Amino acid sequence: MPERPLAVITGASSGIGAEFARQLAARGYDLLLAARREDRMRSLAAEINARHAVDIEIMPGDLANDADRHHLAEYIRNTRHFALLVNNAGFGTNGFFIDVDVESQLRMHRLHVLATLELTHAALASLAANKPSGDCGVINVASVASFGQAPTNVSYCATKTWMASFTNGLATELAMRGSPTRMQALCPGYTMSEFHDVLKMNRGAIPKFFWMSAEFVVAESLRGFERGRVFVIPGRHYKILVLLMRAIPDSWLRWFSIRLAHRRRKA
Ligand SMILES: NC(=O)c1ccc[n+]([C@@H]2O[C@H](COP(=O)([O-])OP(=O)(O)OC[C@H]3O[C@@H](n4cnc5c(N)ncnc54)[C@H](OP(=O)(O)O)[C@@H]3O)[C@@H](O)[C@H]2O)c1
Repeated sequence: MPERPLAVITGASSGIGAEFARQLAARGYDLLLAARREDRMRSLAAEINARHAVDIEIMPGDLANDADRHHLAEYIRNTRHFALLVNNAGFGTNGFFIDVDVESQLRMHRLHVLATLELTHAALASLAANKPSGDCGVINVASVASFGQAPTNVSYCATKTWMASFTNGLATELAMRGSPTRMQALCPGYTMSEFHDVLKMNRGAIPKFFWMSAEFVVAESLRGFERGRVFVIPGRHYKILVLLMRAIPDSWLRWFSIRLAHRRRKA
């Protein structure tokens, strides 16, 4: 019997990461779930195993911490049936850069940038050595925030821009080398998850029209992955928004983002 492919998902204890676990298990992947809350990952594993006969391992750890990050990278590098990495763990901060404690900004960079870089390096090395059959590669969960900047959200936008640029660059390098490995930058807009609870954000300040479900976002990502799409922006309204953000001059974008930030702060 051929081995099932293995998907490694970071930030799998809730939201978009947990939904990746459900949808990848339904497609026949074994799973390695990584995040800090072990209890949440255990109950997710039980929920998935009630429906799908796949193997699920859990690796509790803080990926902003060097030792935990190296440990997961080693696991990926040394696992023969590894096929897909989803770099999804992330969080937001809310406040002017100068007012937010620098440690939380450093943690964000370690998680969004260093973890993505180190785990992707391990993933590409493992895929190059083992050459699994079927779709394989890396999905980096960036954001529509990758396409612009927003006051009170500067490090978040900057790290997500880095994730999108890094993904795009690697997709080009892999194509140049004739590799079948796929890279995707998933760029969602507002998605229902615990993200906004962690941020203590009032969801009511954002019109209902903008909200998407994690189920929809992940289904769009996996559909795009099967088709080899490098950038996936779920939702027609967000695709239009990104086109506009790319088309209008930076000075207009700055003016608009200040107005939006004022509205959000009032709400
Ligand atoms: N929701 C949105 O509107 C939205 C929009 C665009 C992009 N995104 C991106 O989508 C990704 C998933 O977010 P979500 O919306 O699903 O939010 P969420 O429900 O809060 O999930 C975040 C996940 O990241 C994990 N995580 C956070 N810090 C971690 C750390 N130091 N080490 C390991 N795991 C860590 C959390 O698990 P533990 O707390 O158990 O560690 C959790 O599983 C994030 O990268 C976010 O930036 C979200």
